[in-house]
Amino acid sequence: MIAGVSRSVRLVPAVSAVLALALTACTGGVHGTPGGSGVRDPYFPRTGNGGYDVTHYDLTLDYDPGRRHLTGTAVITARATKDLSAFDLDLNGLDVAGVTLWGRGVRWNRAGQELTVRPPGDIDKGETFRTTVRYSGTPGTITDPDGSKEGWLPTADGAVALGEPTGSMAWFPGNHHPSDKATYDMAVTVPKGLQAVSNGELTGERTAKGRTTFRWHTAEPMASYVATVAIGHYDITRSTMRNGLPVYVAVTPDEAQASRTTLAKIPEIMEWEEHTFGPYPFSSTGAIVDHAHVSGYALETQSRPVFPGAPDTQSLVHELAHQWYGDSVTPKSWRDMWLNEGFATYAEWLWQEDHGGDTAQEIFDALYKGDYYDDSDDDEAIWAFPPAKPSSAAHISDSPVYERGAMVLHKIRQTVGDDAFFAIIKGWAATHRHGNADTADFTAYVEKKAPHKDFRTIWRDWLYGDGKPGHE
Ligand code: TRP
Ligand code: ZN
Repeated sequence: MIAGVSRSVRLVPAVSAVLALALTACTGGVHGTPGGSGVRDPYFPRTGNGGYDVTHYDLTLDYDPGRRHLTGTAVITARATKDLSAFDLDLNGLDVAGVTLWGRGVRWNRAGQELTVRPPGDIDKGETFRTTVRYSGTPGTITDPDGSKEGWLPTADGAVALGEPTGSMAWFPGNHHPSDKATYDMAVTVPKGLQAVSNGELTGERTAKGRTTFRWHTAEPMASYVATVAIGHYDITRSTMRNGLPVYVAVTPDEAQASRTTLAKIPEIMEWEEHTFGPYPFSSTGAIVDHAHVSGYALETQSRPVFPGAPDTQSLVHELAHQWYGDSVTPKSWRDMWLNEGFATYAEWLWQEDHGGDTAQEIFDALYKGDYYDDSDDDEAIWAFPPAKPSSAAHISDSPVYERGAMVLHKIRQTVGDDAFFAIIKGWAATHRHGNADTADFTAYVEKKAPHKDFRTIWRDWLYGDGKPGHE
Protein backbone atom coordinates (compact mmCIF):
# COMPACT_ATOMS: atom_id res chain seq x y z
CA MET A 1 0.00 0.00 0.00
CA ILE A 2 1.63 3.19 -1.12
CA ALA A 3 -1.24 5.65 -0.89
CA GLY A 4 -0.66 6.15 2.81
CA VAL A 5 2.93 7.12 2.26
CA SER A 6 2.23 9.49 -0.61
CA ARG A 7 -0.51 11.17 1.42
CA SER A 8 1.91 12.10 4.12
CA VAL A 9 4.77 13.21 1.92
CA ARG A 10 4.97 16.50 3.76
CA LEU A 11 5.49 14.65 7.00
CA VAL A 12 8.05 12.14 5.89
CA PRO A 13 11.19 13.94 7.17
CA ALA A 14 9.54 14.59 10.52
CA VAL A 15 8.23 11.05 10.65
CA SER A 16 11.58 9.47 10.00
CA ALA A 17 13.18 11.72 12.61
CA VAL A 18 10.65 10.62 15.16
CA LEU A 19 10.98 6.99 14.12
CA ALA A 20 14.74 7.21 14.52
CA LEU A 21 14.23 8.65 17.97
CA ALA A 22 11.69 5.99 18.82
CA LEU A 23 14.10 3.29 17.67
CA THR A 24 16.79 4.65 19.93
CA ALA A 25 14.32 4.88 22.75
CA CYS A 26 13.30 1.26 22.21
CA THR A 27 16.65 -0.02 23.32
CA GLY A 28 16.25 1.47 26.75
CA GLY A 29 13.10 3.27 27.73
CA VAL A 30 9.38 2.76 27.89
CA HIS A 31 7.67 2.84 24.49
CA GLY A 32 4.38 2.09 22.88
CA THR A 33 3.47 -1.01 20.93
CA PRO A 34 0.86 -1.59 18.20
CA GLY A 35 -2.70 -1.91 19.46
CA GLY A 36 -3.24 -5.13 17.57
CA SER A 37 -5.64 -6.32 14.90
CA GLY A 38 -8.27 -7.99 17.05
CA VAL A 39 -9.53 -8.41 20.60
CA ARG A 40 -9.26 -12.22 20.62
CA ASP A 41 -12.95 -12.80 20.11
CA PRO A 42 -13.38 -16.58 20.25
CA TYR A 43 -15.56 -16.57 17.11
CA PHE A 44 -14.41 -13.49 15.15
CA PRO A 45 -10.75 -13.03 16.13
CA ARG A 46 -9.95 -10.19 13.75
CA THR A 47 -12.95 -8.03 14.59
CA GLY A 48 -12.30 -5.13 16.89
CA ASN A 49 -8.87 -3.76 17.68
CA GLY A 50 -6.76 -3.55 20.78
CA GLY A 51 -5.27 -0.62 22.65
CA TYR A 52 -8.01 1.97 22.55
CA ASP A 53 -11.63 2.61 23.33
CA VAL A 54 -13.82 4.67 21.00
CA THR A 55 -16.00 7.23 22.77
CA HIS A 56 -17.66 8.86 19.76
CA TYR A 57 -18.20 8.37 16.03
CA ASP A 58 -19.07 11.37 13.92
CA LEU A 59 -20.00 10.02 10.48
CA THR A 60 -20.73 12.16 7.45
CA LEU A 61 -22.07 10.05 4.62
CA ASP A 62 -23.22 10.92 1.15
CA TYR A 63 -24.94 8.19 -0.86
CA ASP A 64 -25.95 8.08 -4.47
CA PRO A 65 -28.23 5.04 -4.91
CA GLY A 66 -28.06 5.24 -8.72
CA ARG A 67 -24.29 4.69 -8.75
CA ARG A 68 -24.28 2.80 -5.44
CA HIS A 69 -21.57 5.22 -4.44
CA LEU A 70 -20.83 6.20 -0.85
CA THR A 71 -18.56 9.04 0.19
CA GLY A 72 -17.78 9.12 3.89
CA THR A 73 -15.84 10.95 6.53
CA ALA A 74 -15.49 9.25 9.90
CA VAL A 75 -14.22 11.33 12.80
CA ILE A 76 -13.39 8.91 15.58
CA THR A 77 -12.68 10.05 19.11
CA ALA A 78 -10.95 7.42 21.22
CA ARG A 79 -8.93 6.96 24.38
CA ALA A 80 -5.72 4.94 24.38
CA THR A 81 -5.82 2.06 26.86
CA LYS A 82 -2.06 1.53 26.53
CA ASP A 83 0.94 3.32 25.05
CA LEU A 84 0.34 2.98 21.33
CA SER A 85 2.85 3.13 18.50
CA ALA A 86 0.08 2.24 16.00
CA PHE A 87 -3.57 1.30 16.03
CA ASP A 88 -5.98 -0.50 13.71
CA LEU A 89 -9.46 0.27 12.49
CA ASP A 90 -11.66 -2.33 10.78
CA LEU A 91 -12.80 -1.41 7.28
CA ASN A 92 -14.02 -3.76 4.56
CA GLY A 93 -13.49 -2.66 0.95
CA LEU A 94 -13.88 1.02 -0.04
CA ASP A 95 -11.02 3.34 -0.95
CA VAL A 96 -9.33 5.39 1.71
CA ALA A 97 -8.47 8.90 0.52
CA GLY A 98 -6.69 10.05 3.64
CA VAL A 99 -6.27 9.68 7.37
CA THR A 100 -5.48 12.42 9.84
CA LEU A 101 -4.64 12.32 13.51
CA TRP A 102 -5.09 15.48 15.53
CA GLY A 103 -5.83 17.17 12.21
CA ARG A 104 -2.55 16.22 10.52
CA GLY A 105 -1.88 13.72 7.80
CA VAL A 106 -0.58 10.47 9.17
CA ARG A 107 0.87 7.26 7.75
CA TRP A 108 -1.48 4.38 7.25
CA ASN A 109 -1.77 1.16 5.34
CA ARG A 110 -4.33 -1.51 4.66
CA ALA A 111 -4.24 -5.28 4.80
CA GLY A 112 -7.53 -7.13 4.46
CA GLN A 113 -10.04 -5.62 6.88
CA GLU A 114 -7.33 -3.87 8.92
CA LEU A 115 -6.59 -0.19 8.39
CA THR A 116 -3.43 0.48 10.39
CA VAL A 117 -2.67 4.05 11.44
CA ARG A 118 0.92 4.87 12.41
CA PRO A 119 1.30 8.11 14.32
CA PRO A 120 4.67 9.86 14.15
CA GLY A 121 5.06 9.37 17.90
CA ASP A 122 3.40 7.29 20.59
CA ILE A 123 -0.09 7.97 21.82
CA ASP A 124 0.15 7.74 25.60
CA LYS A 125 -2.06 5.50 27.67
CA GLY A 126 -5.09 7.48 28.84
CA GLU A 127 -4.73 10.07 26.10
CA THR A 128 -7.76 10.99 24.03
CA PHE A 129 -7.11 11.17 20.32
CA ARG A 130 -9.14 12.08 17.28
CA THR A 131 -8.59 10.45 13.93
CA THR A 132 -10.38 11.24 10.68
CA VAL A 133 -10.74 8.83 7.78
CA ARG A 134 -11.98 10.01 4.40
CA TYR A 135 -13.19 7.20 2.15
CA SER A 136 -15.46 6.37 -0.77
CA GLY A 137 -16.61 3.61 -3.04
CA THR A 138 -19.33 1.02 -3.38
CA PRO A 139 -19.91 -0.53 0.02
CA GLY A 140 -19.98 -4.30 0.00
CA THR A 141 -22.34 -6.97 1.17
CA ILE A 142 -20.61 -9.40 3.51
CA THR A 143 -21.54 -13.09 3.66
CA ASP A 144 -21.47 -14.49 7.18
CA PRO A 145 -20.03 -17.87 8.11
CA ASP A 146 -23.65 -19.10 8.27
CA GLY A 147 -24.34 -17.84 4.72
CA SER A 148 -26.51 -14.87 5.68
CA LYS A 149 -25.89 -11.43 4.16
CA GLU A 150 -25.03 -8.28 6.04
CA GLY A 151 -23.21 -5.02 5.54
CA TRP A 152 -24.54 -2.64 2.91
CA LEU A 153 -27.65 -4.14 1.33
CA PRO A 154 -29.02 -2.35 -1.74
CA THR A 155 -32.81 -2.03 -2.04
CA ALA A 156 -34.96 -1.01 -4.99
CA ASP A 157 -34.59 2.70 -4.18
CA GLY A 158 -31.69 2.92 -1.71
CA ALA A 159 -29.95 0.69 0.79
CA VAL A 160 -30.12 -0.66 4.32
CA ALA A 161 -27.03 -1.20 6.49
CA LEU A 162 -27.11 -4.19 8.83
CA GLY A 163 -24.14 -5.03 11.01
CA GLU A 164 -24.49 -8.28 12.96
CA PRO A 165 -21.92 -9.56 13.56
CA THR A 166 -19.37 -7.84 11.28
CA GLY A 167 -21.30 -5.86 8.65
CA SER A 168 -20.69 -2.33 9.90
CA MET A 169 -17.10 -2.38 8.66
CA ALA A 170 -18.60 -2.35 5.15
CA TRP A 171 -19.72 1.28 5.57
CA PHE A 172 -17.53 2.95 8.17
CA PRO A 173 -14.11 2.38 9.74
CA GLY A 174 -14.14 1.67 13.44
CA ASN A 175 -13.57 -0.64 16.33
CA HIS A 176 -16.09 -3.19 15.16
CA HIS A 177 -16.51 -5.39 18.19
CA PRO A 178 -19.45 -5.36 20.61
CA SER A 179 -17.14 -4.72 23.57
CA ASP A 180 -16.41 -1.15 22.42
CA LYS A 181 -19.57 0.95 22.53
CA ALA A 182 -19.70 4.66 21.70
CA THR A 183 -22.08 7.53 21.05
CA TYR A 184 -22.80 8.54 17.44
CA ASP A 185 -23.65 11.44 15.22
CA MET A 186 -24.53 10.63 11.64
CA ALA A 187 -25.20 13.12 8.86
CA VAL A 188 -26.49 11.31 5.81
CA THR A 189 -26.97 13.13 2.50
CA VAL A 190 -29.17 11.60 -0.19
CA PRO A 191 -30.84 12.83 -3.38
CA LYS A 192 -33.79 15.11 -2.60
CA GLY A 193 -36.99 13.08 -2.32
CA LEU A 194 -35.34 10.17 -0.54
CA GLN A 195 -35.16 9.75 3.23
CA ALA A 196 -32.26 8.63 5.40
CA VAL A 197 -33.25 7.00 8.68
CA SER A 198 -30.84 5.94 11.38
CA ASN A 199 -30.57 5.26 15.11
CA GLY A 200 -31.53 7.73 17.80
CA GLU A 201 -33.14 11.09 17.22
CA LEU A 202 -33.44 13.21 14.08
CA THR A 203 -31.80 16.54 14.92
CA GLY A 204 -31.84 18.21 11.54
CA GLU A 205 -33.04 17.97 7.97
CA ARG A 206 -31.87 20.34 5.30
CA THR A 207 -32.18 20.40 1.52
CA ALA A 208 -29.76 22.28 -0.71
CA LYS A 209 -28.82 21.87 -4.36
CA GLY A 210 -31.08 18.89 -4.85
CA ARG A 211 -29.74 16.89 -1.92
CA THR A 212 -31.11 16.43 1.57
CA THR A 213 -29.03 15.90 4.69
CA PHE A 214 -30.54 14.08 7.66
CA ARG A 215 -28.75 14.39 11.02
CA TRP A 216 -29.21 11.63 13.58
CA HIS A 217 -27.89 11.59 17.13
CA THR A 218 -27.39 8.65 19.47
CA ALA A 219 -26.59 9.85 22.99
CA GLU A 220 -26.39 6.43 24.64
CA PRO A 221 -23.50 4.01 24.04
CA MET A 222 -24.10 1.85 20.97
CA ALA A 223 -22.26 -1.22 19.67
CA SER A 224 -21.42 -0.80 16.01
CA TYR A 225 -23.27 -3.99 15.02
CA VAL A 226 -26.58 -2.33 15.90
CA ALA A 227 -25.81 0.91 14.06
CA THR A 228 -27.90 1.34 10.92
CA VAL A 229 -28.80 3.66 8.12
CA ALA A 230 -31.74 3.08 5.83
CA ILE A 231 -32.07 5.06 2.62
CA GLY A 232 -35.12 5.09 0.37
CA HIS A 233 -38.71 6.23 0.10
CA TYR A 234 -40.54 5.72 3.38
CA ASP A 235 -43.87 6.55 4.92
CA ILE A 236 -42.79 8.22 8.14
CA THR A 237 -44.96 8.21 11.25
CA ARG A 238 -43.89 10.26 14.24
CA SER A 239 -45.73 9.99 17.54
CA THR A 240 -45.14 10.12 21.27
CA MET A 241 -45.79 7.49 23.90
CA ARG A 242 -47.79 8.30 27.04
CA ASN A 243 -44.51 8.72 28.93
CA GLY A 244 -43.23 11.22 26.35
CA LEU A 245 -40.86 8.87 24.47
CA PRO A 246 -40.66 9.77 20.76
CA VAL A 247 -41.62 7.03 18.28
CA TYR A 248 -40.23 7.24 14.73
CA VAL A 249 -41.42 4.63 12.27
CA ALA A 250 -40.30 4.40 8.62
CA VAL A 251 -42.03 1.93 6.30
CA THR A 252 -41.41 1.28 2.64
CA PRO A 253 -44.72 2.29 1.00
CA ASP A 254 -45.58 -1.14 -0.41
CA GLU A 255 -45.45 -2.67 3.09
CA ALA A 256 -47.39 0.17 4.75
CA GLN A 257 -50.76 -1.52 4.58
CA ALA A 258 -49.50 -4.90 5.79
CA SER A 259 -47.48 -3.35 8.62
CA ARG A 260 -50.04 -0.94 10.03
CA THR A 261 -51.80 -3.03 12.68
CA THR A 262 -48.63 -4.56 14.08
CA LEU A 263 -46.59 -1.34 14.15
CA ALA A 264 -49.47 0.42 15.91
CA LYS A 265 -48.72 -1.94 18.82
CA ILE A 266 -45.27 -0.43 19.45
CA PRO A 267 -46.45 1.71 22.43
CA GLU A 268 -48.33 -1.23 23.95
CA ILE A 269 -45.36 -3.59 23.54
CA MET A 270 -42.94 -0.97 24.87
CA GLU A 271 -45.12 -0.43 27.96
CA TRP A 272 -45.38 -4.18 28.58
CA GLU A 273 -41.61 -4.53 28.16
CA GLU A 274 -40.91 -1.61 30.51
CA HIS A 275 -43.17 -3.28 33.05
CA THR A 276 -41.38 -6.62 32.56
CA PHE A 277 -37.75 -5.55 31.96
CA GLY A 278 -37.58 -2.13 33.67
CA PRO A 279 -37.03 1.38 32.30
CA TYR A 280 -36.37 1.61 28.54
CA PRO A 281 -32.67 2.39 28.04
CA PHE A 282 -32.83 4.79 25.05
CA SER A 283 -34.23 8.23 24.15
CA SER A 284 -36.54 7.17 21.32
CA THR A 285 -38.02 4.07 19.73
CA GLY A 286 -39.60 2.99 16.46
CA ALA A 287 -39.00 0.66 13.54
CA ILE A 288 -37.77 0.54 9.96
CA VAL A 289 -39.49 -1.74 7.44
CA ASP A 290 -37.82 -2.19 4.07
CA HIS A 291 -37.13 -4.87 1.47
CA ALA A 292 -33.52 -5.75 1.91
CA HIS A 293 -34.61 -9.08 0.54
CA VAL A 294 -31.17 -10.57 0.44
CA SER A 295 -31.25 -10.33 4.23
CA GLY A 296 -34.62 -11.82 5.08
CA TYR A 297 -34.07 -11.35 8.80
CA ALA A 298 -34.89 -8.66 11.31
CA LEU A 299 -32.19 -6.94 13.34
CA GLU A 300 -32.35 -5.14 16.67
CA THR A 301 -30.69 -1.95 15.40
CA GLN A 302 -30.53 0.38 18.38
CA SER A 303 -33.73 2.29 19.17
CA ARG A 304 -35.14 1.43 15.74
CA PRO A 305 -35.11 -2.25 14.70
CA VAL A 306 -35.11 -3.13 11.01
CA PHE A 307 -37.60 -5.62 9.53
CA PRO A 308 -37.30 -7.19 6.06
CA GLY A 309 -41.04 -6.75 5.43
CA ALA A 310 -44.18 -6.29 7.52
CA PRO A 311 -43.34 -7.75 10.95
CA ASP A 312 -45.62 -9.93 13.03
CA THR A 313 -46.19 -9.17 16.70
CA GLN A 314 -43.76 -11.86 17.90
CA SER A 315 -40.96 -10.40 15.82
CA LEU A 316 -41.68 -6.89 17.07
CA VAL A 317 -41.70 -8.13 20.68
CA HIS A 318 -38.41 -9.92 20.02
CA GLU A 319 -36.54 -7.00 18.44
CA LEU A 320 -37.81 -4.49 20.99
CA ALA A 321 -36.79 -6.84 23.84
CA HIS A 322 -33.27 -6.75 22.39
CA GLN A 323 -33.15 -3.04 23.21
CA TRP A 324 -32.71 -4.12 26.84
CA TYR A 325 -30.92 -7.42 26.16
CA GLY A 326 -28.30 -6.95 23.47
CA ASP A 327 -28.33 -3.22 22.81
CA SER A 328 -28.19 -1.84 26.36
CA VAL A 329 -26.68 -4.94 28.01
CA THR A 330 -24.31 -5.98 25.22
CA PRO A 331 -22.29 -9.21 25.07
CA LYS A 332 -18.58 -8.96 25.81
CA SER A 333 -17.91 -11.35 22.93
CA TRP A 334 -19.82 -13.27 20.27
CA ARG A 335 -19.70 -16.33 22.50
CA ASP A 336 -22.27 -14.62 24.75
CA MET A 337 -24.91 -14.36 22.01
CA TRP A 338 -27.38 -16.41 24.03
CA LEU A 339 -27.62 -13.46 26.44
CA ASN A 340 -29.18 -11.62 23.48
CA GLU A 341 -31.17 -14.31 21.77
CA GLY A 342 -32.18 -16.41 24.76
CA PHE A 343 -33.64 -13.31 26.42
CA ALA A 344 -35.37 -11.99 23.27
CA THR A 345 -36.86 -15.44 22.64
CA TYR A 346 -37.99 -15.72 26.26
CA ALA A 347 -39.58 -12.27 25.88
CA GLU A 348 -41.73 -13.76 23.10
CA TRP A 349 -42.78 -16.63 25.38
CA LEU A 350 -43.65 -14.22 28.19
CA TRP A 351 -45.65 -12.03 25.82
CA GLN A 352 -47.66 -15.05 24.65
CA GLU A 353 -48.20 -16.18 28.22
CA ASP A 354 -49.52 -12.73 29.18
CA HIS A 355 -51.69 -12.37 26.08
CA GLY A 356 -53.73 -15.52 26.03
CA GLY A 357 -51.28 -17.77 24.19
CA ASP A 358 -49.26 -20.75 25.37
CA THR A 359 -47.45 -20.35 28.67
CA ALA A 360 -43.67 -20.37 28.81
CA GLN A 361 -43.96 -23.72 30.61
CA GLU A 362 -46.00 -25.15 27.73
CA ILE A 363 -43.48 -23.94 25.16
CA PHE A 364 -40.63 -25.30 27.28
CA ASP A 365 -42.38 -28.67 27.56
CA ALA A 366 -43.04 -28.89 23.82
CA LEU A 367 -39.39 -28.14 23.07
CA TYR A 368 -38.19 -30.64 25.63
CA LYS A 369 -40.51 -33.35 24.33
CA GLY A 370 -39.49 -32.61 20.75
CA ASP A 371 -42.89 -31.73 19.34
CA TYR A 372 -42.47 -27.99 18.99
CA TYR A 373 -41.49 -27.73 15.33
CA ASP A 374 -43.16 -29.25 12.27
CA ASP A 375 -39.91 -30.94 11.34
CA SER A 376 -38.40 -33.32 13.89
CA ASP A 377 -34.87 -32.41 12.69
CA ASP A 378 -35.53 -28.91 14.02
CA ASP A 379 -36.60 -30.35 17.37
CA GLU A 380 -33.37 -32.34 17.47
CA ALA A 381 -31.21 -29.34 16.48
CA ILE A 382 -31.83 -27.61 19.81
CA TRP A 383 -29.48 -30.08 21.48
CA ALA A 384 -26.66 -29.70 18.92
CA PHE A 385 -24.50 -27.62 21.26
CA PRO A 386 -24.87 -25.73 24.54
CA PRO A 387 -26.09 -22.09 24.47
CA ALA A 388 -22.97 -20.68 26.09
CA LYS A 389 -20.56 -22.53 23.76
CA PRO A 390 -21.71 -22.34 20.11
CA SER A 391 -19.91 -24.97 18.03
CA SER A 392 -18.51 -22.39 15.58
CA ALA A 393 -19.07 -18.93 14.09
CA ALA A 394 -21.41 -20.52 11.54
CA HIS A 395 -23.79 -21.50 14.35
CA ILE A 396 -24.08 -18.44 16.58
CA SER A 397 -27.64 -17.83 15.43
CA ASP A 398 -28.91 -21.41 15.65
CA SER A 399 -31.70 -22.67 17.89
CA PRO A 400 -29.43 -23.76 20.79
CA VAL A 401 -28.65 -20.04 21.21
CA TYR A 402 -32.29 -18.91 20.85
CA GLU A 403 -34.69 -21.59 22.12
CA ARG A 404 -32.33 -23.48 24.37
CA GLY A 405 -31.06 -20.11 25.70
CA ALA A 406 -34.67 -19.27 26.57
CA MET A 407 -35.00 -22.69 28.22
CA VAL A 408 -32.08 -21.79 30.52
CA LEU A 409 -34.03 -18.74 31.66
CA HIS A 410 -37.09 -20.86 32.21
CA LYS A 411 -35.08 -23.30 34.34
CA ILE A 412 -33.98 -20.36 36.49
CA ARG A 413 -37.60 -19.23 36.79
CA GLN A 414 -38.64 -22.74 37.88
CA THR A 415 -35.89 -22.72 40.50
CA VAL A 416 -36.48 -19.29 42.06
CA GLY A 417 -40.18 -18.66 41.43
CA ASP A 418 -41.82 -15.79 39.57
CA ASP A 419 -41.13 -12.91 41.96
CA ALA A 420 -37.42 -13.57 42.20
CA PHE A 421 -37.17 -14.37 38.49
CA PHE A 422 -38.70 -11.10 37.33
CA ALA A 423 -36.52 -9.22 39.83
CA ILE A 424 -33.50 -10.98 38.33
CA ILE A 425 -34.23 -10.15 34.69
CA LYS A 426 -35.02 -6.52 35.59
CA GLY A 427 -32.01 -6.25 37.87
CA TRP A 428 -29.72 -7.73 35.21
CA ALA A 429 -30.83 -5.04 32.73
CA ALA A 430 -30.37 -2.32 35.38
CA THR A 431 -26.97 -3.52 36.63
CA HIS A 432 -25.37 -3.65 33.17
CA ARG A 433 -27.41 -0.83 31.57
CA HIS A 434 -25.42 0.67 28.66
CA GLY A 435 -22.57 -1.76 29.37
CA ASN A 436 -21.19 -5.17 28.45
CA ALA A 437 -21.56 -8.49 30.19
CA ASP A 438 -20.73 -12.16 29.64
CA THR A 439 -22.13 -15.50 30.72
CA ALA A 440 -19.97 -15.65 33.86
CA ASP A 441 -21.31 -12.22 34.90
CA PHE A 442 -24.81 -13.58 34.42
CA THR A 443 -24.43 -16.77 36.42
CA ALA A 444 -22.68 -14.84 39.22
CA TYR A 445 -25.52 -12.30 39.22
CA VAL A 446 -28.21 -15.00 39.46
CA GLU A 447 -26.35 -16.74 42.29
CA LYS A 448 -26.00 -13.48 44.19
CA LYS A 449 -29.72 -12.71 43.85
CA ALA A 450 -30.83 -16.19 44.96
CA PRO A 451 -28.08 -17.26 47.37
CA HIS A 452 -29.99 -20.20 48.85
CA LYS A 453 -30.73 -21.91 45.56
CA ASP A 454 -28.52 -24.39 43.76
CA PHE A 455 -27.94 -23.60 40.08
CA ARG A 456 -25.06 -25.99 39.49
CA THR A 457 -27.06 -28.48 37.44
CA ILE A 458 -28.61 -25.75 35.32
CA TRP A 459 -25.24 -24.21 34.51
CA ARG A 460 -23.55 -27.59 33.94
CA ASP A 461 -26.25 -29.30 31.88
CA TRP A 462 -28.38 -26.55 30.33
CA LEU A 463 -25.91 -23.74 29.78
CA TYR A 464 -22.56 -25.45 29.19
CA GLY A 465 -23.38 -29.14 28.74
CA ASP A 466 -23.35 -31.12 25.51
CA GLY A 467 -26.49 -32.96 24.49
CA LYS A 468 -29.98 -32.96 25.90
CA PRO A 469 -30.10 -32.49 29.66
CA GLY A 470 -31.86 -35.25 31.56
CA HIS A 471 -34.98 -34.71 33.61
CA GLU A 472 -34.47 -34.03 37.27
N1 TRP B 1 -30.18 -10.76 15.99
C1 TRP B 1 -31.16 -11.04 14.97
C2 TRP B 1 -32.45 -11.32 15.74
O1 TRP B 1 -33.10 -10.50 16.19
C3 TRP B 1 -30.82 -12.19 14.11
C4 TRP B 1 -29.52 -12.06 13.41
C5 TRP B 1 -29.31 -11.35 12.29
C6 TRP B 1 -28.28 -12.64 13.74
N2 TRP B 1 -28.03 -11.43 11.93
C7 TRP B 1 -27.36 -12.22 12.78
C8 TRP B 1 -27.84 -13.43 14.76
C9 TRP B 1 -26.03 -12.59 12.82
C10 TRP B 1 -26.50 -13.81 14.81
C11 TRP B 1 -25.60 -13.39 13.84
O2 TRP B 1 -32.78 -12.42 16.01
ZN1 ZN C 1 -32.84 -11.81 18.22
